[in-house]
Amino acid sequence: MIQDTIHEKFVERYGEHPQLFSAPGRINVIGEHTDYNDGFVLPAAINKRIYFALKKNDSGQCRIYAHDIDEEYTFPADQKEPVKKTWVNYPLGVIREMMKIREFNLTGFDCIFGGDLPLGAGLSSSAALETGFAHAINEIFEVGVEPAQIMHLSQNAEHNFAGMQCGIMDQFAAVYGKKGHVVKLDCRSLDSDYYPLHFKDYQLILCNSNVQHELASSEYNVRRKQCEEGVGIIKQNHPSVKNLRDVTFDMLEEHQDQMDEVVLDRCLYVLRENERVHDTCEKLQENDVDAIGRNLYLSHKGLSEMYEVSCDETDFLVDLTKDMEYVKGARMMGGGFGGSTINLVKIDSMEEFEERLAKAYYDKFSIQADFFEVETDDGIKSH
Ligand code: GLA
Repeated sequence: MIQDTIHEKFVERYGEHPQLFSAPGRINVIGEHTDYNDGFVLPAAINKRIYFALKKNDSGQCRIYAHDIDEEYTFPADQKEPVKKTWVNYPLGVIREMMKIREFNLTGFDCIFGGDLPLGAGLSSSAALETGFAHAINEIFEVGVEPAQIMHLSQNAEHNFAGMQCGIMDQFAAVYGKKGHVVKLDCRSLDSDYYPLHFKDYQLILCNSNVQHELASSEYNVRRKQCEEGVGIIKQNHPSVKNLRDVTFDMLEEHQDQMDEVVLDRCLYVLRENERVHDTCEKLQENDVDAIGRNLYLSHKGLSEMYEVSCDETDFLVDLTKDMEYVKGARMMGGGFGGSTINLVKIDSMEEFEERLAKAYYDKFSIQADFFEVETDDGIKSH
């Protein structure tokens, strides 16, 4: 098992027995780019995880080894500024953000992390890295922060050290995910409702396009700004509006002439996507796979044409499924510009689905796609 490998690697490298912790990746059934607009999302933690082997070393140095890419980096315990090595800024950011909440005596540590959660697949490996590492540091140094604080400080680490103005969905799912369930999260109040995830004869399958275009984080921050621009215009007549969560279709219509067409499309997409989250939750309870599938396709259409965060590869993967009678719905998942698609597929046709998709995708882009059947899991853990 992968956690044994991480443990053994630690003993081999640092000659001591560490403690082991982990955090999961996440899927999102529906509700994309709604979280930072104070809207609704429907994610779940999955059984692809990052494991952290950690032990204090009392040397004043923090030594971290990234097993998946075979790289080690050491920084002093009082390192305050981000460093050049991108992946280091996640754990470093977590430490700095945790210190802001509660000062603790960071005497140095050795850490190895790695797992079976692919990077850049839209499964939020960054939130798993942040929350899992935060959990590990919290336990080892007995810092005493609460799970909700782990969630928030991890998001802040991403904002302030990785430069991505992400919403709260990924960190929420990584901390509060529950095996067997998806969770509807109100990203304003942080109220959550868990729904059992099963579709009788259907199953969610992820298809990793294995592309991640450069644009992902810069365009993400641009989308945030465009939503804020729309809100700014509506606010002039409706001062109680704080963000898109408070905007109605009528308000948008009332202001459409004052808005840039692109901004209008971005806002309209978000309003509709929030509606689809509510509807999908209802349909989940009725086990109405047809309606859920339709919502997935509509979500993709909106993301591709109105929010413009898809790309040729994920558009192609979704379009292909439309001719497959055993697929109810599909859409790109996560921030966009690559990553994975999520597909609702009849269980007894899964093999055919994978073969057809893999072949057509390879023929077109010369890229091998990867497939995972979604299995939900719990959030951050000590082992
Ligand atoms: C990324 C962000 C999330 C969310 C999604 C899009 O995964 O980290 O906060 O905004 O994109 O839904």
